[in-house]
Amino acid sequence: MKLCMIGTGYVGLVSGVCFSDLGNDVICVDKDINKINLLKKGKIPIYEPGLSELVIKNYKNKKLKFSSDLKTSVKNSDIIFICVGTPTKKSGSSADLSQIYNVAKKISLSINKFKIIITKSTVPVTTGDQIEKILSKKNSKNKFAVVSNPEFLREGEAIRDFTYPDRIVIGSNDKKSNRIMKNLYSPLISKGAQYIHSSRRAAELIKYASNAFLATKITFINEIANLCEKTGINVEDISIGMGLDKRIGSRFLRAGPAYGGSCFPKDTRAITSTGDEFKTNLSVIKSVIKSNQNRSNILLKRVHEILKNKVKNKKITFLGVTFKANTDDMRDSSSLIMIPSLAKKGALIKYFDPTGYKKDFEKIKNVSYENTIKKSLDGSDLVIIHTEWNDFKSLNFKKLVKGKKFIIYDMRNIYSPTKIKGQGFKYFSIGR
Ligand code: UGA
Repeated sequence: MKLCMIGTGYVGLVSGVCFSDLGNDVICVDKDINKINLLKKGKIPIYEPGLSELVIKNYKNKKLKFSSDLKTSVKNSDIIFICVGTPTKKSGSSADLSQIYNVAKKISLSINKFKIIITKSTVPVTTGDQIEKILSKKNSKNKFAVVSNPEFLREGEAIRDFTYPDRIVIGSNDKKSNRIMKNLYSPLISKGAQYIHSSRRAAELIKYASNAFLATKITFINEIANLCEKTGINVEDISIGMGLDKRIGSRFLRAGPAYGGSCFPKDTRAITSTGDEFKTNLSVIKSVIKSNQNRSNILLKRVHEILKNKVKNKKITFLGVTFKANTDDMRDSSSLIMIPSLAKKGALIKYFDPTGYKKDFEKIKNVSYENTIKKSLDGSDLVIIHTEWNDFKSLNFKKLVKGKKFIIYDMRNIYSPTKIKGQGFKYFSIGR
């Protein structure tokens, strides 16, 4: 099939490349000409394991193309995926849909035969209705169908999530587009992916409800971890004990720092705003947002306690600063709150991240980047394991830093407390 992905950010690029790898002819469009030129040279703007190899392979065999010419690309395609950003509005908490509607207007001028227009970006309920209105202004209704096909890719695991999805959700109000979409996804369905067809509005809400529910699960276990710390219980026993109940499930029950990234914070805000718009108080999600915002303060308080309230001139190392492992994404990472706060209190911070130096800390006094784990640990009083990269999972701290013993605060519960303490380190973790 001939597909056009509009927007070569995370969603558009990963989905486009994976669709081309399934044998479709895909053209990825972006208004950023520099980005398109770099992609043509096989240079990928984001860090995603396995992506660059797939781009190079499919670009070489001409299944994948890149262009900044939206008009021609739309004309030459049967299925158009809108994959542009839907960030939080500058004022308020609803999603800014200006990029979506701009693209819809442009598409409306290039419909030369029947096309399916799909939102893959995360969009609030009724956005599909608005897109349909925009397209109807220039085209008769039998020339297009508007479909919602939300993505459930996790950064760092995106290619695997695309190839082996738990479910494929298609929201459409007509049978023809459902048939075509089922055909497009048939290689994944035949490998066991569940295909769900719903109304368009339902598909839009499935995406938000899923992200809000996952954010709730994490926040729930983070609060339970707080209680575990006060009662001498290991939160991991609780996660296992709860997770084995099939009604609950074991995933997303890992306690840690505040959840971050480009999706959960933005989408939880947007869904509560949709709720307010339709006079429905989504109070559970609102309290999740509040609890998550307070999470970094709770962990910071613990850091102060660990250092016996003497933070000034203490040398603190952060291992990992991104919001999670296998990504270079800093968006809404809790390190963006913790590092400046500790630096302001006079701590001397060094950080190491497998994805390198971060501009985010460039203007903060007393924060420096080290390009090896060893150098970052050198002379440290407190080592904070902030992100769960594999690189940090089997460190021999004793060998890495001879002589001096530092305190370790493992915010991802990577290490066994007894083993680390056995090596002579003071060790703190989350909820145990
Ligand atoms: C999330 C969803 O998991 C995807 O299904 C969805 O497609 C995506 O948002 C999106 O809407 O585009 P992502 O933001 O890449 O994916 O990251 P997650 O792996 O979900 O992690 C989000 C945050 O939760 C991270 O800060 C992570 O450290 C935290 N987390 C996750 C925990 O603290 N504990 C857990 O058990 C799991």
